[in-house]
Amino acid sequence: MSEDAASETDVQTSEKLVELAKRRGYFFQSSGAYGGVGGFYTFGPQGAALKGNVEDAWRDRFAVAEGNMEIDAPTIMPEPVFEASGHLDTFDDMLVDCPECGESHRADHVVEDNTEYEDAESLPIPEVEEVIAEYELICPSCSAGLAGQAVETFNLMFATNIGPGDSDPGYMRPETAQGIFVEFPRLKEYARNQLPFGVTQIGRAYRNEISPRRSIIRTREFTQAELEYFIDPEEDDPDLESVADVDVTLYPAREQNTEGSSEIETTIGEAVEAGIIGDEWVAYFLGIAKPWYESVGVDMDRFRFRQHLSGERSHYAADCWDAEGKIDGNWIELAGFANRTDYDLSKHDEYSDDRFTIFRQYDEPKTVERATVDPDMSYLGPEFGGDAQTVVDELETLAERDRSAFDGETVEVELEGETHELPVEKTGFSVDEETIAGEHITPHVIEPSFGVDRLVYTVLHHAYREDEVAGEERTYLDLEPEVAPTFVGVFPLQSDEDLEAVADEIVADLRDAGLSVTYDDSGNIGRRYRRQDEVGTPFCVTVDYETIEEEETTVTVRERDTTDQKRLPVEDLDETLAEIRDGDLEFSDI
Ligand code: GAP
Repeated sequence: MSEDAASETDVQTSEKLVELAKRRGYFFQSSGAYGGVGGFYTFGPQGAALKGNVEDAWRDRFAVAEGNMEIDAPTIMPEPVFEASGHLDTFDDMLVDCPECGESHRADHVVEDNTEYEDAESLPIPEVEEVIAEYELICPSCSAGLAGQAVETFNLMFATNIGPGDSDPGYMRPETAQGIFVEFPRLKEYARNQLPFGVTQIGRAYRNEISPRRSIIRTREFTQAELEYFIDPEEDDPDLESVADVDVTLYPAREQNTEGSSEIETTIGEAVEAGIIGDEWVAYFLGIAKPWYESVGVDMDRFRFRQHLSGERSHYAADCWDAEGKIDGNWIELAGFANRTDYDLSKHDEYSDDRFTIFRQYDEPKTVERATVDPDMSYLGPEFGGDAQTVVDELETLAERDRSAFDGETVEVELEGETHELPVEKTGFSVDEETIAGEHITPHVIEPSFGVDRLVYTVLHHAYREDEVAGEERTYLDLEPEVAPTFVGVFPLQSDEDLEAVADEIVADLRDAGLSVTYDDSGNIGRRYRRQDEVGTPFCVTVDYETIEEEETTVTVRERDTTDQKRLPVEDLDETLAEIRDGDLEFSDI
């Protein structure tokens, strides 16, 4: 199949999936009774269960299995947090307004969708304006020409006021990460002041996207699962050995910039050795993420890691790779893996009253020279009056930073823009030897940041199947048992008290065994199977007359994908199904 034909089929799949999602309770646009509002979606009963299972699987892998801590911080944070983080100044998208219909569009998307530019986000605004004019690009809503329209920046944060009045501005957090960074002074205590350590958070983030699109792929309120891993960049190394053999498809920046080049198939170990992934910590988390994505049902033939181009990186990132899944013939970003360096902690250290450093203990105490001052206040007092203490502070800073300033007979200090000369002998300047056990450092942060909603969409899209069963067309979702909203459906064959009583007992037993079960007694059995197939329930159990009439109590168990059926004893049904769910038994091996 050609690439175009493949993406056309994919688009059809998306249309059918969105219809199925609404009909079967996966997701649908919120506030529909009031006309709906762009960029907000509700997860229905199936969707909320699937999303919850994906989040649990993420928690198991990235928090529990890695020994990291999980927190749950507020979604509204005060303005100074975002002044410090840089979001207030730089968390912008490019906006272009249509002169005819007044609709606002993301200028970089208009360019990417209609020209050969793949990464218009990294272009400077004047260049985007030039491209719009050169290609005579038009408004996606009403087709009016956009040439000559100003492209402007638009800050994506939702603003609010904390309490009555407008004296305390706040913002809905645009990433869960800041909720972790601002608590670093307390979190380091829980980690007993030892690096490295990781803190995770799964929660809502808010971005006032200019043009939310493609159902839950780009929304204004979405869930992130983020890990902030704090390291000492000079001392800490990841356990690369444990992920060295993980196969990966990589699309490095160099290949993206070279015409005719495409993705490369390699392993994490080889990629690090060849310098393709420059940051070992980022490589480590890519190595963990790849098998995890596979375990929740992302199709590995439609999955890759792509390195950010230099203009594309966020204001805080030194290097960044995205996990991408292919949907509708396009690659979409599922997660970002960034080295945020000491950017965030340094900024919060600078802007707040707390300290965002950690004490690095040396293996052996070190002897160092320390320059200090002990000024003669009987001289400074009369000389500088109320400013004497400021002069002391200036001298202390100068001694620390530039001891050569004290080499001559006099030393210069700045006071409110004026330079004053003091005799060095009045400063009590001296250089002494001191033994120190360590130093305060600002940790660096490695951040795997997952979008949950996009992942749920990708899992559903990659699981969507159509086939024919007994001459009838069937749609089913080939969801992994670990994440399927319901693991087993239980049906009495007909409306009959005896069959229903046994079915009720089976439901109770299976629920006791920790399985998620749905009971369905409406419609013919074929329709009930189709209903469960469509929501991706891996197994169905039917209680029929053989169950209640034969000496050994058995039921029919049907597997979703193959539609194979087996008669299994009720006695150990809970154990058998639990083993299958946990991956310890295959249905075909029973
Ligand atoms: N703390 C880093 C950070 O927020 P990001 O790349 O902006 O990085 C991380 O976001 C992930 O969040 C993305 O990879 C994507 O999966 C998801 N995401 C971002 N914006 C989104 C939106 N408007 N709708 C749905 N998911 C979004």
